[in-house]
Amino acid sequence: MHILLTGGSGFIGSNFVRYVLRDRPGYSVTNLDCLTYSGNPENLSDVEGGPRYTFVHGNILDIELVTELMQKVDCVVHMAAESHVDRSIIDARPFVESNVLGTQTLLDALRRVDPDNTKKFVHVSTDEVFGDLPLDKPDELFSETTPYAPSSPYSSSKAGSDMIARAYHHTFGMQVMITNCSNNHGPYQFPEKVIPLFVTNLIEGKKVPLYGDGQNVRDWLHVEDHNEAVLAVLEKGTAGEQYCIGGNNERSNLELTHSILELMGKGEDMIERVTDRLGHDRRYAIDATKLKTELGWAPSRSAWPQALEATVKWYVDNEAWWKNVKSGAYRKYYETQYGSR
Ligand code: NAD
Ligand code: DAU
Repeated sequence: MHILLTGGSGFIGSNFVRYVLRDRPGYSVTNLDCLTYSGNPENLSDVEGGPRYTFVHGNILDIELVTELMQKVDCVVHMAAESHVDRSIIDARPFVESNVLGTQTLLDALRRVDPDNTKKFVHVSTDEVFGDLPLDKPDELFSETTPYAPSSPYSSSKAGSDMIARAYHHTFGMQVMITNCSNNHGPYQFPEKVIPLFVTNLIEGKKVPLYGDGQNVRDWLHVEDHNEAVLAVLEKGTAGEQYCIGGNNERSNLELTHSILELMGKGEDMIERVTDRLGHDRRYAIDATKLKTELGWAPSRSAWPQALEATVKWYVDNEAWWKNVKSGAYRKYYETQYGSR
């Protein structure tokens, strides 16, 4: 099986490549990535040059390029996206371009090369498309039947991409499947997201900026569990279906921060209370029953606090990686977004 993976140089994508090469000997991966600020070829330096991995530097908005690539593969796993909520509040434009138009471009290219709909397309999306849940109703969870109610420019753009993906299945009969996953953690996450940001700040002797009252809740899942679920959907999922992926592991940001401080041997004085994120979603939590009962998936690497401990240790052990990323990130971001595209 030859997979076209989009966004493979980012956090989840690079872990996906490594997972597939390790666990699926018969598979090969072509990674299409335009290397925005969060796409880093160093994330895959250990597999670069191997016979089952090919990197293509290009944009998912380039219809001719993606059409050419789709002719050579058996299926598509689409992860490329602008992924950070705070950035979408500063400038929503790249989010609409990459997430909505990018997804539509890929689907159009696939239609061109595969009129008989033989190739599967897994669209990797987020639980944020459902909006948020109240803190005082712990029994309420997101599932595949929850109505869409996105609240940030990021989640709205992902919701738009999900709708396009759904429409291409309904209208053209394409083998599209959508996944909606909760918050991931693990190696190679860009240190703008809360866990790597907090851990690396603490190593640098800086405080950790906790938004608002710190009561917001996220459902944390190890990235390898996410990628295992994506593979399960690719291999066993039903066309036109949607699958929610979660860790059954809800933590408030304050609880998460205390755990990180403890693991790093730091005190409460390292927390800096800062102004809340605009429109900050209160709680995300997933009911992943469908994935378990229909495809036999359950998280096996996300047990808390061991999973968090392993992630924290990775950043402690890989200082060269994140120092390089932190120092060059913003310059590279603007160059890529507005310069060389
Ligand atoms: P990331 O920002 O680390 O990586 C995104 C990758 O996509 C980067 O390598 C970037 O260069 C590439 N990319 C962006 N726009 C592109 C374009 N126009 N053409 C080609 N490449 C482009 O993001 P991530 O956290 O790895 O997320 C991957 C996917 O998973 C996204 O679709 C995101 O919405 C989804 N997701 C993320 C999480 C999470 O917790 N991180 C949870 C659920 C779903
Ligand atoms: O739920 C899935 C989503 O999880 C993915 O779709 C997104 O791509 C991914 O970025 C993530 O979104 P969040 O907004 O939940 O992740 P982030 O790491 O930015 O923030 C997690 C929580 O921590 C959130 O409640 C905001 C808070 N936070 C974040 C940062 C960066 C802080 O308190 N301080 C911070 O500096």
